[in-house]
Amino acid sequence: MSLLKEFEESLKTIVKNAGYEVENLSLETSNRKDLGEYQLNDAMQLAKTYHKNPREIAEEIVKEIEKDDRFTNINIAGPGFINISLSNKYKLEILNKMNKDVHSNIDKKEKKRIIIDYGGANVAKALHVGHLRSANIGEALKRLAILLGYDALGDAHLGDYGRPLGFVIKEIKEMYPELPYFDENYKGDYSEVELPISNEDLEKIYPLASQKAKEDEAYLEEGRIITVKIQSHERGYYDLWKKIVDISKADIKATYEDLNVSFEIWNGESDEMEYFEELKDIYEKSGVLKSSEGAQIIEVAKEDDKAPMPPLLFIKSNGSASYETTDLATILERKKNYDPKEIWYVVDGRQSLHFDQIFRAIRKVNILSDDVVLEHIGFGTMNGKDGKPFKTRDGGVMNLKQLIDLVYQETYKKITNESIKEEEKPEVAKKVAIAALKYADLLPYRGTDYVFEVEKFADLEGKTGPYLLYSTIRMKSLLNKANHIDTDEAKEIKGDSEKEIILTLLELPRILNKSIDSKSLNDIAEYLYNLTALYNKFYSENKVLTEENKDLQESWLVLTDTVYKVNKLLLDVLGINIPEKM
Ligand code: ARG
Repeated sequence: MSLLKEFEESLKTIVKNAGYEVENLSLETSNRKDLGEYQLNDAMQLAKTYHKNPREIAEEIVKEIEKDDRFTNINIAGPGFINISLSNKYKLEILNKMNKDVHSNIDKKEKKRIIIDYGGANVAKALHVGHLRSANIGEALKRLAILLGYDALGDAHLGDYGRPLGFVIKEIKEMYPELPYFDENYKGDYSEVELPISNEDLEKIYPLASQKAKEDEAYLEEGRIITVKIQSHERGYYDLWKKIVDISKADIKATYEDLNVSFEIWNGESDEMEYFEELKDIYEKSGVLKSSEGAQIIEVAKEDDKAPMPPLLFIKSNGSASYETTDLATILERKKNYDPKEIWYVVDGRQSLHFDQIFRAIRKVNILSDDVVLEHIGFGTMNGKDGKPFKTRDGGVMNLKQLIDLVYQETYKKITNESIKEEEKPEVAKKVAIAALKYADLLPYRGTDYVFEVEKFADLEGKTGPYLLYSTIRMKSLLNKANHIDTDEAKEIKGDSEKEIILTLLELPRILNKSIDSKSLNDIAEYLYNLTALYNKFYSENKVLTEENKDLQESWLVLTDTVYKVNKLLLDVLGINIPEKM
């Protein structure tokens, strides 16, 4: 049980001792700390249940609170609001416990398995800004879920299935018709064939081939035929496809690594489609498939739908499976291999119809039991100053590497610390750039759009990643400078700043729980900023290293160490690494 929860439970017991039962306390933090750090508002509600005067009830509760030396400054305001503060002794106890183990102030959840689908990068195609948000939010939610005790697994769910890759191979065939992949009589080992194509080439071929397929009927047709060859594992084409997947996957992995993002499961849509026959069988037997103009569809509309809900296209009229079908097959595979209790899809909010359709369609058969939760965790777009999704200068889609580079150029300029050698600068600037980008991405509520402003994100002041890194590194360096001083136990509190910091530390579980409930990192991002700003205020008010009162100095170091630990923990949840210096 977290320290915050323990505090709430003690108050409940106190209320009980006064003769009243409450299930959920109405306890609020107050912004007039001088009047009381917390406000207990239950007397009003209890007055109704017990048909008594709220003030009278408040007085009875106060009598009980006064018996407990953890509380002080107890008074009643208005009709029966009870103001209370935590005694210094209690605050120090909280601080010391958190310093020994930050987890002592986290509420752990039951261990259930959750699969989080937050990759969605497409093979042979450059990652773009949309994938950035999936990766940032998904990775952070996974880390948060694990911190809270869930058994969470990330799945990259690579887009490696479908026609775009048929077109890519069609284009490669035009460029290099002599490659043995296209030679039916080739008897050698395809894995030994050199492919004269790099990942950069693939990223250029992909849009070119897609464009050609739009304009040229014959090209489109051959691309389709090639797609079928890949999907039926035809020698040569299938081998080339595999090679392309490998090249691209290595690059995708490296980009995710730069972002501090990793997956436990690296399945692609093609792996999931191995379950297609079984899936089809289940749907056929259930009788929910309907023929419509040569296609097989599933009706998913409900009577009370407010918006149009088109049927899910299960098999297209040309016999191929749709994007929806790949997701249905994925659910079947996940059920069989991982038996998750929940599946979270961290995917652009603009795909909500897609997820509505598959969530409804999966309930038409009994692959999943009813209590398995499926949730689309949608997010808004990162926009340019014009309010439209962020583009390159010439109006093209902004790819992720370009975007990271833009931020890097900015953070590089800001590295002025002379102890950082010239050759170390790029690595530091890179870490700071990733922090800037990730923090800015996680700071707004995930559902809202936000504007990309590189100068603002990279600023060392304000609610930014660099500010948090800079401040956290400074805490660490203070602790290093004081490493000859004992930091066993905080014994004293001098000013209001320390009190505020401890009360903020106590709030940690509330923030974590709020964040996992809303599946958004904004509360954690705000909290990190608030805690850091409070600490910096304390830091500017006090000279820790030269303080002569040794007990006070030790207490301040414990405080610093605890804030440092919490910052480190939460930055890690957000997927942000702290450089040694900056
Ligand atoms: N590859 C898809 C895209 O780029 C995203 C996949 C999202 N995940 C899923 N299970 N549908 O649009």
